[in-house]
Amino acid sequence: MQERLQKVLARAGIASRRKAEELIREGRVKVDGKVVTEMGTRVDPENQAIECNGMHVSAQEKKVYILLHKPSGFLSTVHDPQGRPIVTDLLKNIKERVYPVGRLDLDTEGALLLTNDGELAQKILHPSHEVNKTYVAKVKGWPGKNKLGALAGGIILEGRKTWPADIELLHSEPQTTTIKIVIHEGRKRQVRKMFEAIGHPVLQLQRTAYGQLQLKGLASGKYRFLDPGDIQMIFRK
Ligand code: URA
Repeated sequence: MQERLQKVLARAGIASRRKAEELIREGRVKVDGKVVTEMGTRVDPENQAIECNGMHVSAQEKKVYILLHKPSGFLSTVHDPQGRPIVTDLLKNIKERVYPVGRLDLDTEGALLLTNDGELAQKILHPSHEVNKTYVAKVKGWPGKNKLGALAGGIILEGRKTWPADIELLHSEPQTTTIKIVIHEGRKRQVRKMFEAIGHPVLQLQRTAYGQLQLKGLASGKYRFLDPGDIQMIFRK
């Protein structure tokens, strides 16, 4: 059966569809030994030889799902031209080409999903599924009830209002406050920007859960494989 090349790449766990299109555009994909840069190209993965970055792309691949406790200082990417630490450096003996579902900033730690299941990744990332992400943020100073109430209701960030967030004050320290915040949007550096906007910059940030799938029990830098029950927890409110 013929399918679009980027779909085949995504299903094989090479990259998200968007990233797969970039790979094609960059000339890193070959079909039957020839570089293909034409976007809509249709291929038959069962009967044609597909390669990406010189590696064979199989028609099907076993799906793997990994929950990693990303440490600060690691990039949420599978390749860094500058050779900095990347999250996949932390995975041992995994032959499937997993990639992170969304990203955490370099200086953010916590729950990061990695998978070769492009469809699930898209489902988690698509705003229509409203997957809750829980963060614990240590912020400078003591934001009062009014400011936290404003954050919870939604504030204007870069011209667009944020969706309502659940906010819980966990504790106040001499110079800082620790706050739990649950959001389902995934704008770039959103949590940091939200606290910045109310005048309390984030000093430390940890993602502690996707939906009801909790990070708890995983040490920094460690990971575990997820089963279908864990995957269901991601979509639970
Ligand atoms: N919000 C942020 O500001 N940073 C992250 O890494 C994730 C969410």
